[in-house]
Amino acid sequence: MATKVAAGISDLAAIDPADYRYFTEQTWPALFARLRAEDPVHYCTEGMFAPYWSVTRYKDIVHVEALPDIYSSSWEYGGITVLDALDQELKFPMFIAMDRPQHTAERRVVAPAFTPSEMQRLAGPIRARTAALLDGLPVGETFDWVDRVSIELTTQMLAILFDFPWEDRRLLTKWSDWAGDVQAAADPAMREERTRILYEMGAYFHGLWQARLNAPPAPDLLSMMIHSEALSKMDEQEFIGNLVLLIVGGNDTTRNSMTGLVRTMHEFPGEWEKLKVDRSLIPNAVSELIRWQTPLAHMRRTAKEDTELGGKIIRKGDKVVMWYISANRDTEVFEDPDRVDFARENARRHLSFGYGIHRCVGARLAELQLSILIEEMLARGMDVEAVAPPVRVPSPFINGYKEQMVRITKG
Ligand code: HEM
Repeated sequence: MATKVAAGISDLAAIDPADYRYFTEQTWPALFARLRAEDPVHYCTEGMFAPYWSVTRYKDIVHVEALPDIYSSSWEYGGITVLDALDQELKFPMFIAMDRPQHTAERRVVAPAFTPSEMQRLAGPIRARTAALLDGLPVGETFDWVDRVSIELTTQMLAILFDFPWEDRRLLTKWSDWAGDVQAAADPAMREERTRILYEMGAYFHGLWQARLNAPPAPDLLSMMIHSEALSKMDEQEFIGNLVLLIVGGNDTTRNSMTGLVRTMHEFPGEWEKLKVDRSLIPNAVSELIRWQTPLAHMRRTAKEDTELGGKIIRKGDKVVMWYISANRDTEVFEDPDRVDFARENARRHLSFGYGIHRCVGARLAELQLSILIEEMLARGMDVEAVAPPVRVPSPFINGYKEQMVRITKG
């Protein structure tokens, strides 16, 4: 049982941090605190994803991320999550799961869509949509923040970025939920359904690609990718794979940060009050929110050669899981890390976006959307009260929420 282990089973090897119950039961802070103190590079031999290494200290994760030629992200070696991609039938080629030099070339195609000037271009429509959504929320009634705000605003943001057919935007949520569901992928009873849905997504993107191919260039990301020079080097599968990456990468992550915001309002109400009196704290508050939430609990690498990490020998082919959620609570870097402090001076050092060559390419967009949400809520004098405990996603990868019932008490 996850809870028992967190409470302190003496056999360290029996600790399996990828047991999703640590996340649904919220026992992971104690578990990772123990691992950081007693066994920071931990080998797990039991559980549905074993065997694998868990790296739990901030500095060790930075070390792994800084050596991408030793620690591979490639599907070829097992991919980017604790779930082994080698066992999965369907793998879209995408640059998050590629090593250099191919990674560099493909990342270069999408990076221009996330420059500060592009963010300025997107800020107008994102703000307008956010404002309209907030204005339509019921005051004094109970509703699900995940569905009405977090999912809706995130799918709208992605639809704006890609100029994705507006009426179909909720498909993005469905696809991204299934794509990120490592439990379903590891479960033979659900795997077939997951594969069917991911094929459906691939077919839809294929249709979109075909439709846009002959259209004149436009400023949206899809058009930018289609008309980029590098595309001539990318086959259709790779193109679709990278589209899937951008949509999945931006979806659960941003969405769960928005619900995390309501959790911070509930658990640390004084922090929202700080923002009311000092709006200049908003950019830092966004970083602190993303640190505290850590929407992706981990990313995984595979050792391409024998190497040493924190005094342990990692063998070629070993699976190495970097627990960002633990690094973000490492007391060597963050003082009183379980607390949310919107004025925390080093909030930006969080590892929620990763580090190094794979650091999140969409980070600025996520920060923009979250800043706009906070600004527009403050502009309306909105207070949001969580009226029930959240329903959490049962996953060791997506650290998020299925439901959070709330009531707006002012607005
Ligand atoms: C990569 C987190 C939002 C697109 C990543 C990585 C993490 C991450 C942990 C992998 C880093 C690594 O392997 O070292 C997040 C979080 C977000 C967020 C916490 C929101 C709070 C977005 C958005 C988009 C996006 C909005 C795009 C619309 C990507 C892409 C990559 C990536 C394309 C691959 C980068 C590469 O391999 O070079 N993200 N992400 N992400 N993210 Fe995000």
